[in-house]
Amino acid sequence: MTEIRKVGVVGAGLMGSGIAQVSAAAGYDTVVREVEQGFLDRGMARIEKNLDRAVAKEKLGPGERDAIAGRLHPTVDLADLAGCDLVIEAITENLEAKHELFGAVGGVCEDDAVFASNTSSLSITELAAGTDRPDRFVGLHFFNPVPVMPLVEVVRCGQTSKETFDVAFAFAKSVGKSPIACGDNTGFVVNRLLVPYMLDAIRAYESGIASIPDIDKGLRLGCGYPMGPFTLGDFVGLDTLYHITEIMYNEYKEARFASPPLLRRMFLAGYHGRKTGKGFYDYSGPEPVVSDFVK
Ligand code: CAA
Repeated sequence: MTEIRKVGVVGAGLMGSGIAQVSAAAGYDTVVREVEQGFLDRGMARIEKNLDRAVAKEKLGPGERDAIAGRLHPTVDLADLAGCDLVIEAITENLEAKHELFGAVGGVCEDDAVFASNTSSLSITELAAGTDRPDRFVGLHFFNPVPVMPLVEVVRCGQTSKETFDVAFAFAKSVGKSPIACGDNTGFVVNRLLVPYMLDAIRAYESGIASIPDIDKGLRLGCGYPMGPFTLGDFVGLDTLYHITEIMYNEYKEARFASPPLLRRMFLAGYHGRKTGKGFYDYSGPEPVVSDFVK
């Protein structure tokens, strides 16, 4: 079985930086690649902040933090992925961009390197088919925030070899996660169930049954969820949620995956949640309040 020593993470956004952090923390030399120095710096600063916070809480010693930081190799040069045994892609949810990236990485890495995508909704089968190694391609879907959430969905498509799946599953365990095995259906397990639930919450609000804070409160206090559906939507990003609904509806053609009109309008208006400061809630004050778009 392929031994993973060096890991490449492509994309240093919220997900990529989190994946790089847990990989380096687990002892892997980890190359982090971004297209632009500014994006790379932002991703590395996020990791540094997380590690510093862990040191301040005495969950990590300063020596361990420095060792983790020493295993992270930020770069804007794709050629630095040479020698990686596993490359995990966490770039924008765009099929062409991912195909282009894997084409280029295929020219840099050894033939036996395993390629993985952190996509939450695109088809692993389609991504694998566009590479030079469909049998060595797998989905590794982490959850936000990556350093905290214990789940990884390990997604096997028809072309994935057993060895590749086993390598990916073992890797997820080795970075301290609890993986589950999934077949390649859009949304895998979690988003297939979570997205219709979040969309139903928006429809419930649209039909006037309760306010946004009360629906959130109901699900938090009535079901023990850490966040209500609107808080979670803002946390995931309403642009991301909207794009996922488009992909899922396109695959299943079922009304429960279709975007409610309100979500589409908030996406078009740039109310993307925490990342833009406003979504269902406005985050500009000391406590979130219902945003002007839905007042
Ligand atoms: N990055 C790193 N660590 C973070 C963090 C972040 N963004 N946010 C919180 N943490 C850490 C904190 O440092 C803290 O660590 P310690 O326990 O070591 O002190 C711990 O998480 C708990 O944080 P808080 O006490 O500040 O806050 P909390 O108890 O409210 O937890 C939360 C925050 C973990 C985000 C929690 O609210 C939660 O689990 N929310 C639901 C998240 C969720 O459902 N994620 C999945 C989204 S769907 C997805 O990702 C799939 C997709 O494809 C769209």
